[in-house]
Amino acid sequence: MVTSKRVVDFDQHSAAYAANPWLISAKLAMESPVAWTDKHGGFWVISGFDEVREATRNAQVFSSRHDMPHGCTAFQGINLPPVSERFLPIELDPPEQLEWRRLMARQFSPEAAARLHPLMKECATWCVDQCIETGRMELVMGLTSAVPAFVTLRLLGLPLSRWHLYVEITHKTNYSTGEERARVFAQFGEILNEVAQVAAQRREAPRDDLLTLLATMTIRGKQLELHEIASACGVIIAGGIDTTSAVVASALKYLAEYRDVRRRLIDNPALMPGAVEEFIRHTTPVTGLARTVARDVVLGGQELKAGDRVLILYQGANMDARIFECPADLNIDRDAGNHVSFGYGAHRCLGSAFARVDVPTMLTEVLTRMPDYELDGNPVRYPSVGTSNNYIAVPVKFTPGKRIGIDAELSAEIEGNI
Ligand code: HEM
Repeated sequence: MVTSKRVVDFDQHSAAYAANPWLISAKLAMESPVAWTDKHGGFWVISGFDEVREATRNAQVFSSRHDMPHGCTAFQGINLPPVSERFLPIELDPPEQLEWRRLMARQFSPEAAARLHPLMKECATWCVDQCIETGRMELVMGLTSAVPAFVTLRLLGLPLSRWHLYVEITHKTNYSTGEERARVFAQFGEILNEVAQVAAQRREAPRDDLLTLLATMTIRGKQLELHEIASACGVIIAGGIDTTSAVVASALKYLAEYRDVRRRLIDNPALMPGAVEEFIRHTTPVTGLARTVARDVVLGGQELKAGDRVLILYQGANMDARIFECPADLNIDRDAGNHVSFGYGAHRCLGSAFARVDVPTMLTEVLTRMPDYELDGNPVRYPSVGTSNNYIAVPVKFTPGKRIGIDAELSAEIEGNI
C-alpha cells in the first residue's frame, strides 16, 4: 500500500550520526524504514531489515552503476555525495559485475583466507611486539589497521613495507569531508596509478597474486585497461583494510569496558566465532552505500522515482528490533548470523572469508598477550561515519610483557629491509 511521503531529518555524515549511529539507525528502522531526506541534494534512506534486503536483491532497479564522466547521468554509484572516481566491480550491475566476481572468486575463497592465516598471526604478533615492552599501544594504527593492510598487500602482491601509507590514505578517504575529501581522493588515485603500473609489469612477468589475475583476466573478450585495474584495487584496498579494522577496534574498546565479557572470551575461546559475528553486526563497518533508482518502484509503501538516489543503510537493518532484540546492545550470546554487514545480493562482500579469519586472529593476540589492557584516554571516533564506522585512535595501557619475535624474512619485509 502506498502511503504519503515520509520525510526525515537524516544526514549520515553528521556529527550526531557519528556520535551514535546505533540509536539513530534503530529509530529509523522501526519508525521510517523507507524515508526521504533533503540532505546532500535529497535521497531516500532505506533502513528496515526487510526493505534493505528487498532493495539489495533487486540490482536491476536499485543500480550501483556509475556513469563517467561523473554527473553525466543520474547514475552516480555507491558514494553519497558522489565522488569523481568510478570503482569496479562494485559500481557495475549484473550481468557484467557477476563476470568479474566469477573470475575473482577463487582468490577470495575460505581456502584462500585459511592459507593466509599464518601470515595474519605473524603480523599480529609483530604489531604487539612493537609495543609490548612499553605497556602502551594505540590499537588502530598499531594493530587493527596494520594487520588487514599486510593481508591486503600480500593478497595483491605489493610490498608489505608500504602498509603505513595504505592505512593512512584509506582512513582519510573514509572520514574526510569537503575539500579535504577531494584532496585525499586525488592522493588515493595517485597510489592506485602506481599499483596499475605494477599490474602492467605482471602482464610481462606473472606471479601467483591478485594483481596478476587482474592484469591477465578478460571480461567480454578484452583485457582490463590499467585504469580499470586501479579502480578494482581501490575497492580491495579500501574494503580490505578499514572494515576489518573497524570491527576489531570497536570490539577491543567494548571489551575494555566490559571486563566480564572479556574474561568469558579468554576463559572460553569456543565463544569467539559467535562473538565475532556479533561484533561484525554491531559495528556494521560499512554503515551505508548508495544506489540509483533505475525505474519507478514502490518500497515500504513509498513511491521512488527513476533517477532518485538511495542510501542502503546496512546499519539500520542490523539495528531493526523486529529481527534483533535490543539491537543497540552488544550481546555475544545472541545469534547474529543473519546480519547484513557484508551486504546482500549481487554485491555481497567478496572478502568476508578474510574478515572472519582476520578478526579473531587479532582479538586473540590481544587477549592472550595483553589480557589486562585498559583504555588510556578517550578513543577518538571518525568525525564522519557515513561510509565507515571506525575510530581514528583507541589508546590502551597494560602490564608490559616480552617480545615473541617472528620469522626474520617476514620481519625484514615489513620493515623494508629486503
Ligand atoms: C568486516 C569486514 C568487511 C565488511 C563489513 C565488508 C562490507 C562490505 C559490503 C557491505 C559490501 C557490499 C557493497 C555494496 O552493497 O555495494 C562489500 C563488498 C566488497 N568487499 Fe567487503 N567488507 C569487509 C571486508 C572485506 C575484505 C577483507 C575485502 C578484501 C580483501 C573486501 C572486499 C570487497 C569487495 C571486492 C567488494 C565488492 C563486491 C562486488 O561489488 O561484487 N571486503 N563489502
